[in-house]
Amino acid sequence: MTQGRLLGKTAFVTGGGAGIGAASALSLAAHGARVVVTDLDAAAAVAVAAQITAAGGQAVGWHLDVTDESEWEARIQETLGTFGALTVLLNNAGIAPTADLIEDLKLSDWRRTLAVNLDGVFLGVKHGIRAMKANTASAGSIINVSSVYGIVGTTRAPDYVAAKGAVRLLTKAAALECSQSRYPIRVNSIHPGFIETPMLSAGLSSMVQRGFFPNTDTAHQVLQSLHPIGRLGLPTDVAAAVVYLASDESAFMTGSELVIDGGYTAQ
Ligand SMILES: NC(=O)c1ccc[n+]([C@@H]2O[C@H](COP(=O)([O-])OP(=O)(O)OC[C@H]3O[C@@H](n4cnc5c(N)ncnc54)[C@H](O)[C@@H]3O)[C@@H](O)[C@H]2O)c1
Repeated sequence: MTQGRLLGKTAFVTGGGAGIGAASALSLAAHGARVVVTDLDAAAAVAVAAQITAAGGQAVGWHLDVTDESEWEARIQETLGTFGALTVLLNNAGIAPTADLIEDLKLSDWRRTLAVNLDGVFLGVKHGIRAMKANTASAGSIINVSSVYGIVGTTRAPDYVAAKGAVRLLTKAAALECSQSRYPIRVNSIHPGFIETPMLSAGLSSMVQRGFFPNTDTAHQVLQSLHPIGRLGLPTDVAAAVVYLASDESAFMTGSELVIDGGYTAQ
């Protein structure tokens, strides 16, 4: 592993207290970035930041609800005040679908998923661009976490696929806008298959409770069978892609979608 690929960069991670966000925050720091770990669960963000500092890195852990625009503004300003600049923004925070059919899905549940999984990304992109557009020392990289369900559809997740599909194209719109404005900012999306995180564990338990599967082992096997590579993904599989997109190694990539799915969408 090349160390120092992100030296001098400041990365801001949403939903950094668990799963993909936590693994990404740790990997970004391991490669030399200063990391602002944020989460709705402030204690979880603080714990991940503490893990980074204990390993010799630089990090802070703060509360951020990605649906709250005034909190976004405050946290970005605090980042600039603490570390001087913002260079990497990982829009990772997200919630799972309700697992309802469209005909049963409550409007309030639809709006909640869209608020976190799409509005939250929009607000991050908006305030990320404002903070990064004048960067000179280090170009900016915005990474939006979509899903394989931003590329293909599935049942019982209409709110989730709608949000993730929109994140995929919002990413391209932002990439084009930044390029056209000659801002030093690249914007890309990543599309994980099923990844072993707290969100997945909760989803498996909920599917069993609702009677879709007899037990979590069976549910796990069914999900695994969707991935030709023969296993589900690990948060570190996604974190490696995040580090690449955050680094200058991906300097010619913008508006693109990086798929990390063990072959899920290759079929
Ligand atoms: N796990 C998977 O299989 C998978 C697959 C594809 C995409 N994703 C996406 O990856 C991202 C991370 O998923 P994960 O599996 O690590 O989830 P997770 O539930 O394990 O972790 C998500 C984190 O986001 C935080 N969060 C939730 N709502 C928030 C809000 N309003 N503001 C700020 N933080 C909030 C949670 O507190 C939690 O710490 C999500 O966008 C998810 O949709 C996950």
